[in-house]
Amino acid sequence: MTPLSATRVWRNCNLATMQAGETPYGIVEDAALVVEGDRIVWTGPRSALPRAYASASHEGLAGRWITPGLIDCHTHLVYAGQRAGEFEQRQQGASYADIARAGGGILSTVRATRAADEETLLQSTLGRLAALRREGVTTVEIKSGYGLDLQTELRMLRVARSAAATSGLHIETTFLGAHTLPENYRDRADDYIRFVCEDVLPVVAHERLADAVDAFCETIGFDLQQTERVLAAARKYDLPVKLHAEQLSNMGGAALAARYGALSVDHLEYLDPAGVSAIAESGSVAVLLPGAFYFLRETQLPPVAALRERGVPIAVASDCNPGSSPFVSLLLMLNMGCVLFGLTPEEALAGVTRNAARALGLDAEVGTLTVGKRADFVVWNVDHPAQLAAQFGPNPCYRVVARGNTLI
Ligand code: NIG
Ligand code: FE
Repeated sequence: MTPLSATRVWRNCNLATMQAGETPYGIVEDAALVVEGDRIVWTGPRSALPRAYASASHEGLAGRWITPGLIDCHTHLVYAGQRAGEFEQRQQGASYADIARAGGGILSTVRATRAADEETLLQSTLGRLAALRREGVTTVEIKSGYGLDLQTELRMLRVARSAAATSGLHIETTFLGAHTLPENYRDRADDYIRFVCEDVLPVVAHERLADAVDAFCETIGFDLQQTERVLAAARKYDLPVKLHAEQLSNMGGAALAARYGALSVDHLEYLDPAGVSAIAESGSVAVLLPGAFYFLRETQLPPVAALRERGVPIAVASDCNPGSSPFVSLLLMLNMGCVLFGLTPEEALAGVTRNAARALGLDAEVGTLTVGKRADFVVWNVDHPAQLAAQFGPNPCYRVVARGNTLI
């Protein structure tokens, strides 16, 4: 990391500012970008660069492209163990739900994560964050949910918080205590929800370990009433909510979350027209997770055309986790979002910048190259921003700047 310096000018570059409603991608060609401390203070065509910046330190970028720092707004990347054996089972015909009902799936990662100490979890988390960072990610959301007991849930959230300091990335944490039913609460889902809301969430809130609360509303997760209890408890602590909704079936979770003003509703393959209307009216972001769709070989597509038509902001995230989306690459998700879900490259890029920022409630701070926002941006070896979604590997990331610090 290089230290902050006063004023820096990046020039001989093209900008994809990703600001809405201007040119596609918010393109400014032959541009300059000026940073002071941790803020963007000027963007525009190089010919209009104010003279005041003439004596600042300049770096020429030889025609490369700059985008906002990428934002992975839905991950489960604090965990221990791996589940390649389940992949083996699925390829032999078992379904994700079959494996979960037999005590595998999320519960298998819960066993491994409970057994891992804080340092082990931190080191594996930092490795995954480093991989994301190498591809231009500067903000990451990380969920708990592989503890399902007080100590391990707190440990996961603490690891996520300390990973922020070490990695130089901005990390938002989400409490996902209602991820699945732990073995010791078998047939007692209502009791477990009581435990989550009354015994764990108050500690999480008191220790300020979570920025939001999430739940898994699904046949193999929690029903609508149980989910609502979690969302209501979050409200008591003034924590914003998001929801894993309509991934494997249509439970009506998205409409419920919309009633609670959810920042985002995530997955959404089985979202019906009423659900689309509900989220269009609430202003929640639809977070699409093509990695899980791909890896679980799902066939039900999220209703992208309806979301588009209703003007619902669409984000794209990795869902990085050992079971349903073991992929530590947001660039790969850009490509999958386009090929599998029919997004345009511009929509996919907006989905990991502007709309992902909104899914985390950070849109005033990050997500576009805008004067006043945090100096989080990426310099790419590409001829056009569509290339970021069109191709995969070799990594086109040339430079990553977060809060004005050069990370790569
Ligand atoms: O978002 N759907 C629930 N949770 C994760 C999967 C977690 C796991 O299988 O470990 C998801 O896909
Ligand atoms: Fe998830």
